[in-house]
Amino acid sequence: MKLLLLILTSFIFCFFFLLHGLNLYRTRRLPPGPLGFPIIGSLLELGPKPHESLAKLAHKHGPFMTIKLGTITSVIASTPDAAKDVLQRNDGACSGRTMPDVATALDHPEAGILWMPPDETWRAIRKALNIYLTNPKKLHSNMAIRHNVVQGALDFLRESARKRSVVDVGKLVFSVSLNQMSNTFISQNVINYNDSNSVERFKMAMDTVKKTHGKFNITDMFPLLKPFDPQNLRRQMKMAHHLFDDVVEVALRERRKHRELKMQRYGDMLDSLLDYSQENKDKFSLIHVKSLIVDSFLAGADTSPRTTSWAMTEMLFNPDVYSRVRKEVSEVVGEDGKVHEAKILDLPYLHAVIKETMRLHPPIPLLAPHKTMKEVKLGDFIIPTNTQILVNAWAVARDPNYWENPSVFMPGRFLGNKVDYKGQHFQFIPFGSGRRMCPGTPLAHRMVSLMVASFVYHFDWNLHHKVDMDGNLDLSTQFIATPIHCLNSCR
Ligand code: HEM
Repeated sequence: MKLLLLILTSFIFCFFFLLHGLNLYRTRRLPPGPLGFPIIGSLLELGPKPHESLAKLAHKHGPFMTIKLGTITSVIASTPDAAKDVLQRNDGACSGRTMPDVATALDHPEAGILWMPPDETWRAIRKALNIYLTNPKKLHSNMAIRHNVVQGALDFLRESARKRSVVDVGKLVFSVSLNQMSNTFISQNVINYNDSNSVERFKMAMDTVKKTHGKFNITDMFPLLKPFDPQNLRRQMKMAHHLFDDVVEVALRERRKHRELKMQRYGDMLDSLLDYSQENKDKFSLIHVKSLIVDSFLAGADTSPRTTSWAMTEMLFNPDVYSRVRKEVSEVVGEDGKVHEAKILDLPYLHAVIKETMRLHPPIPLLAPHKTMKEVKLGDFIIPTNTQILVNAWAVARDPNYWENPSVFMPGRFLGNKVDYKGQHFQFIPFGSGRRMCPGTPLAHRMVSLMVASFVYHFDWNLHHKVDMDGNLDLSTQFIATPIHCLNSCR
């Protein structure tokens, strides 16, 4: 009986292996890649840091590589030139998206900008973000909001320093960033720094959203499993999202009443988006208004704080860098003893530090998955319509052909050259490039610069526990630091 079972199992295995091989043969115009196992493909090879595992596989298989994960075929671009092929030379053909299964847990997943195809509505939303959030005039007029939220954090840190208490910097910068987004969009603080419950609830919800998006979900690879949600990701996503949804829902309801009564306008993003929705009823509804606000909260309150925490961490391991940033910032601090955004925007060394941080720790190492909208030639390969394309932004930023000592933190490498993250230098694309490039880039640049400059100028810091400097997808921004003393009587 045992022998029979063994023969049967071997037969089934060989059958699937043959099918698997045939399947790859049929799609031979795709780039090469690991053969993987029948049915599951290369799932087991990804490990906890997929961007690193994929980078290793790319050394063997080349700049373009095909990976099978269950029923999904993905093409991975792993060098600057391959990234340019996807995001610039074939930007139009490669700018589609697939909605992942976790997103279907939301009330109106189709209204989320991240998963939309590049259609009329998507264009209207990107236009709204540009007009009302990130054009230089708007950024300038919203500067006071950023100063206020950062000042709130400095007050909190000063009080902690006075008491010699430990501060969880990850949570603090998360709260500052979320409040900055919520004040910009709906004119209110979502989080009170002194109320650890509210910080905890929102931080946990944010981490859940990030984790559920970041994980490779078995239901995306095997759609037949969708009804079962075996990793419980959809349910977790729904619960976490609701916390943000509710805040925005209430603000939207109250604001509409406020407007019906023709009361004085707040003049914030919500007012602008409601006007915009009235002017563009056919493509930008109230559902889009709500989705856009929640999406922006989630996008801005995860990535910017993570970058800030990494910059602080790297500097604590490199005290010379820290002193140099402090000196540079000190030279432009106003007579009021405060760090002003307008004065720090062009500080070369501060920006070199932020760029170097993002080079080593891009918050979204594989960008958001792209999808081909028609058959397209990438390198020497023909990629069929509807193929998922991943761009390994982590790998390109460590490509030894472009970067000397790629794993070493050396901000000086960005001095005296024009390499930046605006999407034109494909060896450095933490915000992506092309039409799907992050629309929040100029805002993130200002917010991260202000947080880092203020924290460095006003305090000395000590790391409180060990940090995983390699980072991984699950890394939360929580390292704990203690402001050991305030300089110049706590500026
Ligand atoms: C350090 C901060 C940030 C980083 C590193 C970052 C990075 C990214 C990346 C890599 C993508 C995907 C690009 C692609 O698919 O090729 C993206 C998309 C996006 N980001 Fe950001 N982001 C940051 C901050 C922000 C902020 C502050 C906002 C606020 C509005 C924002 C809003 C968005 C949106 C709406 C998308 C989706 C765009 C689309 O699919 O068309 N991001 N971001």
